[in-house]
Amino acid sequence: MTALACDHAGYILKEEIKKYLDSIGEEYTDFGTDSEESVDYPIYAAKAAHAVADGKCSRGILCCGTGIGISIAANKVKGIRAACCTEEYSVEMTRKHNDANILCMGARVIDTDTAIKLTKIFFKTEALTEERHLRRVKMLEDIENGLM
Ligand code: RB5
Repeated sequence: MTALACDHAGYILKEEIKKYLDSIGEEYTDFGTDSEESVDYPIYAAKAAHAVADGKCSRGILCCGTGIGISIAANKVKGIRAACCTEEYSVEMTRKHNDANILCMGARVIDTDTAIKLTKIFFKTEALTEERHLRRVKMLEDIENGLM
């Protein structure tokens, strides 16, 4: 189950991503927003990020104007590793090296085709299990827990 969320700037892109997910039979929960009316991105980032952190969703895709605000907001939730990406290499590497559990994209930065390409890579790329990557991801938890 994929968690989806956006603000007004990311609404159209989120709807396009939903069409893609429908076409591949991928289930999702849409945490809004539901129109291009101006809203505050942290509200929707928090809803989707908590669903991922709680295990109700296994991953998330979030969109705003740049992808940055919504990623900063999502990363405030414990257990979230949200990566704002604009190109394919970074998506592949953030899955492999950071075990990113949320992909954030900017609707004012990339076009729909690129966003779908990035979504495909995000879905198909597994996190690497070498000790050094696991150790570094564990350190992210240590930071969250005030141990670093
Ligand atoms: C909304 O205008 C815009 O600030 C928002 O979508 C996002 O880009 C913030 O980071």
